[in-house]
Amino acid sequence: MITAKLELKPPPYPLNALEPHMSRDTLEYHWGKHHRTYVENLNRQIVGTELDGMTLEGIIIATYNKGDLLPAFNNAAQAWNHDFFWESMKPGGGGKPSGELLELINRDFGSFEGFVTEFKAAAATQFGSGWAWLTYKANRLDVGNAVNPLPSEEDKKLVVVKSPNAVNPLVWDYTHAYYLDFQNRRPDYISTFMEKLVSWEAVNSRLEKAKARAAEREREEEKRKREQEEGNAAGNEVTEMYLDSEIDDSEAE
Ligand SMILES: [Fe+2]
Repeated sequence: MITAKLELKPPPYPLNALEPHMSRDTLEYHWGKHHRTYVENLNRQIVGTELDGMTLEGIIIATYNKGDLLPAFNNAAQAWNHDFFWESMKPGGGGKPSGELLELINRDFGSFEGFVTEFKAAAATQFGSGWAWLTYKANRLDVGNAVNPLPSEEDKKLVVVKSPNAVNPLVWDYTHAYYLDFQNRRPDYISTFMEKLVSWEAVNSRLEKAKARAAEREREEEKRKREQEEGNAAGNEVTEMYLDSEIDDSEAE
């Protein structure tokens, strides 16, 4: 029987391309062994199940199971997180973002330096291994799932979050992964990542996608509300007609 296999995606650059900041040995180990193990274990876990043949994103959503995690979630999410991580770096990266991304960072963190401080703090204080993310939040209000009464373009906010292994609707991120070169030197690792490796181009293109997705969701939500209102209106008419006929009946008696 032939089953669809999820592939181990290579980083979008040669394994020695991030030197001297991240060595070929580190990538051979962290991508070639560690990341590969997540993908291979996931393939073993899903073979012949209903997850077999789904996309990686589809598997993550299905196995997240509204927070009641299924066994394949960890391997699936970690496979995705590591793809995301490799794509977040590039040779000659680092520096400062520009354009709208920088404007949003300035607006939501006060300044680029403010963002870097907050991001480094999140990454450094994540207990054990985990991930720090810069995410595009659909609503600026910090009130959980409450709906903003007056939604607008300004609602979309950049925030830093950290997670032990979870997946979020992310625009972009950064992570742990301080094997070999950075053992027990997490703050140095994070600085090197920010100063020498981060690909703001990758972040920018994710921001564009996230904005498009947020706009699409808003349109869907509006459509759903409209349909619901129309449905209610139709329901009211039916009720009124029923009441009318009741009145008619009573009048007839
Ligand atoms: Fe890792």
